[in-house]
Amino acid sequence: MVPLSQETLFGLEDFTLLTARRKNVIRSPKQYGNSDEDALPYLQEGGWQLIHVPQEIQFQPNTDEPIHRWSPYVQGFSAGFVQRTLDRYRKDCPHPVVLDPFAGSGTVLVQAKLNRCPSVGIELNPLLHFIASVKVNSWHLSPEKWLRTTELILKTCAQPSPPRFAAPSFLKSETHFRIPVLRNLEKLKGAIDALEAATAESLALKNLALLAFASILIDCSNLKRSPCLGYCREKRVADEAPFQLFAQKCQQIAADLQRCQSQYASALNTPSIVVLGNSMSVQIPEKVDLIITSPPYMNGLDYVMNYKIEMGWLGFGQSHRELKGLKDQMVVCDNVSKGLVRQFSQTQRYTHPWIEQIKADIRASIEQRGTYRRQDMPEIVHKYFDDLYQVMRNVVRYLNKGGRFVLVVGDSLIADVYVPTDLILARIGEELGLTVERLEKARERRSGQIRSYGLRETILTLLR
Ligand SMILES: C[S@@+](CC[C@H](N)C(=O)[O-])C[C@H]1O[C@@H](n2cnc3c(N)ncnc32)[C@H](O)[C@@H]1O
Repeated sequence: MVPLSQETLFGLEDFTLLTARRKNVIRSPKQYGNSDEDALPYLQEGGWQLIHVPQEIQFQPNTDEPIHRWSPYVQGFSAGFVQRTLDRYRKDCPHPVVLDPFAGSGTVLVQAKLNRCPSVGIELNPLLHFIASVKVNSWHLSPEKWLRTTELILKTCAQPSPPRFAAPSFLKSETHFRIPVLRNLEKLKGAIDALEAATAESLALKNLALLAFASILIDCSNLKRSPCLGYCREKRVADEAPFQLFAQKCQQIAADLQRCQSQYASALNTPSIVVLGNSMSVQIPEKVDLIITSPPYMNGLDYVMNYKIEMGWLGFGQSHRELKGLKDQMVVCDNVSKGLVRQFSQTQRYTHPWIEQIKADIRASIEQRGTYRRQDMPEIVHKYFDDLYQVMRNVVRYLNKGGRFVLVVGDSLIADVYVPTDLILARIGEELGLTVERLEKARERRSGQIRSYGLRETILTLLR
C-alpha cells in the first residue's frame, strides 16, 4: 500500500473538523513505519540479531485442543508454540521441570503435563489461578461420574424451586445478560453450589463444574471479548442458552477426560503446581529447567477488569474496590490508578539509559501534542519495566544452570515513541547473568492508535 502524504490526507478530510486524536494519528511521523527499522540502533548496541521465524503463537488454534479448549481465554498462547519449545530442548533434557510465572489459563502447564514434564505456574488473578489448577488437576476424574454430576446439576435446575444463586450485585448483571438468561444462569450456579464437596473427588467434580460454568458466561451474555470486554449489539442469546451451552461444554470435557485417560495415561500423575501469588516476589517449591512464558503487554489488556464477569460470579471479586486492589498488584497496564503511578515515582526502581531516553521522548511528544490518554505515561512505561525486572530477578533464581528462559512479548508504540520491549527484556536478562541465545520475530502485529505501524511479537530465548 502506498502511504498517503499528509497533504493528501488533509485534503481528504476537513482538518478543522477532526478530533485531536485523529489529527495526531494523521500527523504521526510513525505512519506506515515499522518497529524492525526502529529497533536497529538498539540491536546494534546490544550486539544482537533479530531473525524472522514466522509462526503461530496465539491462543486461537487451542480452541480445538483437548483440555486447552475448556476455557476460551483469548490471551493465552498457542499449545503448538509450547510444544515446539519443549521439542527444541528435548535432547538436552527429555522431561524438564517447566515454570510459567504468568500462568494465565494454564496453556504451558497443560502442554507440559501432556509431555510428562512436571510444571509450576504462578498466577495472581485468582480466577485464572483456579482455571489453570482445575485444568491440570482433573485428568484422573471418571468421565462417567463427571457426566452423572452434570446430569444431576441440570436435573436440579429443572426442579420447581431450585436453589438459586443471586447474581453479583456489584456488577451490572441485568445489563450484561437478558433477564430470562440471567435467571437461568442463577439456577445453574445455584445447582452447582448445592453439590456436595466432602471428598477430594466430589470437590474436584464441583470445581470442574464451576470451570464449565465460567467458560460459558460470556457466550450467555450481551458482551463479547475481542480481546477486551465490550457490549455486542447484534447478539441475541436464547433463554435456554445457559443449560444448552453448559451441557455442550460438559460433553466436551467428558470426551477430553476419556482421551487423557487412554492416550495420555502415562501423564496422569505428572505433578503440576499452580501457585496463587505475585511473580515479583513469590517463592516456589523447586528449581526448574525451562521457563516458558508470556508477560502482559505494555499497552495491552487489563487482566482483572477483562475477567470481572467470571470473577464476580465465581466469588473471586466481590466489589470494584477489590478488583482495583488486585489490578494494582499486577504487572502494570495503562488503566491503573494514578495514585499507584505517583507512589511508584517516589520509589527506588530499576532503570536503564534506554528507559530514561524513551521516557524523555514520550514526555516531549505528549507536550507537543498538548494532550494524551494519560499524562503519566512515561512513569507507566517505567513501572512496566521495573515490574518485569522484579519478576525476572525473582524467577531466574530458580532456573538451573544451562536452563532456558523463553519469553514471548510484543513491542509498543507510545505517543509516537518506539518502545523495544523485547530488547529491553533482553538487556535485563543479561544484567541478571543470562545470555541472549535467540531473538526471533514470530509475527507482525498492529496495536494502538497508529494502525499502519508494524509492530512485532518476539520470542526471546535467554540461557542461564
Ligand atoms: C499474557 S497472560 C498469560 C497467558 C498464558 N500464557 C495463557 O496461556 O493463558 C499474562 C498473565 O499474567 C498474569 N499476571 C500479571 N501480573 C502478574 C504478577 N505480578 N504475578 C503473577 N501473574 C501476573 C495475568 O493475570 C495474566 O493471566
